[in-house]
Amino acid sequence: MSKLEFSTFKCFGCTLKGKKKVWGQGNYKNKVIFIGEAPGANEEKFGKPFIGRSGNLLNIMLGEAGIDRELFYVTNVVKCRPYNNRKPRVNEISWCERLLKLEIAKIKPYLIVTLGSTATNVILPNSKSMKLIVGKINKIKIDSYLYLVFPIYHPSYVLRGGIGSEEYLNLFLSLKKVICGIYLTQYRRLRWLISEICGK
Ligand code: URA
Repeated sequence: MSKLEFSTFKCFGCTLKGKKKVWGQGNYKNKVIFIGEAPGANEEKFGKPFIGRSGNLLNIMLGEAGIDRELFYVTNVVKCRPYNNRKPRVNEISWCERLLKLEIAKIKPYLIVTLGSTATNVILPNSKSMKLIVGKINKIKIDSYLYLVFPIYHPSYVLRGGIGSEEYLNLFLSLKKVICGIYLTQYRRLRWLISEICGK
C-alpha cells in the first residue's frame, strides 16, 4: 500500500488543526480512487482510511463485486477525525478540500468514486440529491482536467438502514462494469489488471 502524504501542507485555520492526519492509501497507479468523508476512531488510531465498521462493509461489497480493494486508492475529504465523530464542518471541509485537490491532481484518476454526500458535494458541487445521481457517471472539470465521477452511498448510510445491502451491492456491480469499461478503452496496456478485475 502506498500513502500519499503532503506533509508540507500547512493547516492554519481549521478547527481540527494539530490532530493526527489519516492520509489516503492504496494503489493510485491504477487510477481509480474512492473518497469518503473523514476518519473515525479506528482510522485515527491506526492511521488508515476505512478500517472500521464502514470500511468493513466497503470491503465486503467490493469483495462481493469482485473488486480487490488493494488495487485501488482510498482517501477522505477531511484527513483528521472530527471531534466525537460528528460530521465535518464547512471550514474543515474547505481547508481539506485543497489537500484532496492536490491528491487528485497528482493521481489524475480515470474514475473518482465518491462515497456519500460529503465527498459527492465536494467533487460535484451543485449536484442534485444523492438519490438522483448514485450509480451514474457524472463529469466534472477540476483545474481544466475532465474527470468521471461515480457517486455511491456512504457505507454508514447502509449500516443505518438507509438502503438494503442488496441494493448497495448492485451499485458495486455497476461500478465494476464502469471500471472495466474504462480500462478496456483507456488502459489496455495493463492486461493483467483487466484480467484480474474484468475476467478477460
Ligand atoms: N472511515 C473513513 O475513513 N472514512 C469515512 O468516511 C468513514 C469511515
